[in-house]
Amino acid sequence: MPGMLDPQVRRALAERVRFYRELGIYDFYRRGVYVAEVAEGVPGESAVRSTATFQPELREEMPARNAAAFVVPAATEDNMLEMLAPKPEYGTTDPAEALKIIRADLGDCTRCKLHKQSRKQIVFGVRNPRAELMFVGEGPGADEDEKGEPFVGRAGQLLNNMIKAMGLQREQVYIANIVKCRPPGNRTPERDECETCSPFLMRQIAAIKPKVVVALGAVAAKNLLAINAPMSELRGRWYDFRPAGARSNDPSSDDRSWNGARLAVTYHPAFLLRDPRQKGEAWKDLQMVMRELGIPIPQKGVE
Ligand code: URA
Repeated sequence: MPGMLDPQVRRALAERVRFYRELGIYDFYRRGVYVAEVAEGVPGESAVRSTATFQPELREEMPARNAAAFVVPAATEDNMLEMLAPKPEYGTTDPAEALKIIRADLGDCTRCKLHKQSRKQIVFGVRNPRAELMFVGEGPGADEDEKGEPFVGRAGQLLNNMIKAMGLQREQVYIANIVKCRPPGNRTPERDECETCSPFLMRQIAAIKPKVVVALGAVAAKNLLAINAPMSELRGRWYDFRPAGARSNDPSSDDRSWNGARLAVTYHPAFLLRDPRQKGEAWKDLQMVMRELGIPIPQKGVE
């Protein structure tokens, strides 16, 4: 449907949707189809003039929150409408099934240039579809590209240690990345690549409904939060996080109620490999996460 809109209407609509989201209003339903004005006899105008507008109606208003800590993830004008469009996985309440549908929708993706650069395979995301805790990294490296699984190289070993230090196992969490294809030479993923890929990550998060999302490193944090700040400012606090396009609670259709996740930021394991002195700081971040999840905190930190 968004593809059928006049570019001006599309821009105005995206702007309006963004405005509602900033107010904490997420869900709309359409009454009727379009309210369209028929342009009669105006030279050069198509039969249906582009004053056609959706009539968004408020269905749910988010409770008032600490505005500074409430985050509306970044969405460009183009992907805002895409994110809000109904998704095929909405037909299921089973997160494993929903993830399969999202994976199928992603297909043999050629949406950004990474597909023709260094990618061997798409690295979608792994482990528990009903995880309470989800880790999001930056993008696959060589090992991940080879195996098709995130965080399986040296940084992955350290992430495993971090998970174990929390008293958990890799099988209990979900692990994904901002981009699903390996950037050439392990460079930082570029903005257009992140913007193209992140709607799929948002859908994964909305399907899994984790209690907590941990952004691993600045690239993950900045992309998830749409905040450009140094790690020193990003870490050590909670963000309320609700992926664009996530539907509000509907207990009649889903037994796992969810109004978004809490998001924390910590250092990327690859950074901790380069500067192990920061492991103590990362352990503080993980303890914050453990308190939130009600996990008892052991004395031993990350090794
Ligand atoms: N670094 C990441 O950010 N993700 C991976 O999957 C591996 C290394």
